[in-house]
Amino acid sequence: MNELVIIKSGEHPDLEKMWMEKAEKQLARFHPNRLKEWVNGRVALTMAFKRMNIDITPKDEFLGYQKIKGQEKYTFSISHTPGWAGAIVVAGNVQPGLDIESLDREIDEKILERFIHPYDGKFEPLVLWTAKEAAYKSLPDTVQQKFWLQSIQISEGKFSGDGFHGVWSRIDHPELMIIEASRAL
Ligand SMILES: CC(C)(COP(=O)(O)OP(=O)(O)OC[C@H]1O[C@@H](n2cnc3c(N)ncnc32)[C@H](O)[C@@H]1OP(=O)(O)O)[C@@H](O)C(=O)NCCC(=O)NCCS
Repeated sequence: MNELVIIKSGEHPDLEKMWMEKAEKQLARFHPNRLKEWVNGRVALTMAFKRMNIDITPKDEFLGYQKIKGQEKYTFSISHTPGWAGAIVVAGNVQPGLDIESLDREIDEKILERFIHPYDGKFEPLVLWTAKEAAYKSLPDTVQQKFWLQSIQISEGKFSGDGFHGVWSRIDHPELMIIEASRAL
């Protein structure tokens, strides 16, 4: 079972207010835009958990980027891009990774060279970038520390690297590139 929620900044003022109080304490020295991103990601996460009949609140303790204490059977992934955020929550033995980007985002040649894998399939740069970020987020910390985006090979609906593999798919959206990756645990 999984739930994916995409929100636009400003759509859920009550939830934003609730998380902003925590952001102002926890990220006090950060730029206000960073606080908004952080808040929006958690608003999307709160809504995704809610669809599974679970209430999460700012009092919950996050265990890294993928779990919440007391709700360890659920794994999740958060992503944001200016004005938008998304979260996916999965119940079961799967670790998801989510990445959202504006469809207007241009990936320049220099960045492309830095993240491309010699055996990547033929995809438009934004698809490749978003799929790699989503796949990267689905990897365990220990693996993330060893590899960069160029160590992840992307083929049609699949990703792989030295000792890991998983699947990915694109979710249609009029303004965003949304890619959800998942890796069996
Ligand atoms: C981890 C990474 C994918 C996050 O990228 P990002 O641009 O911040 O991604 P998004 O804005 O979509 O998502 C951010 C959210 O992802 C989550 N996140 C951050 N780091 C994460 C990680 N290592 N694993 C899983 N999730 C992570 C957080 O919830 C974060 O939001 P928050 O800090 O507000 O809670 C990025 O740092 C990365 O690409 N690392 C790979 C390094 C690399 O290979 N670089 C080479 C580039 S050519």
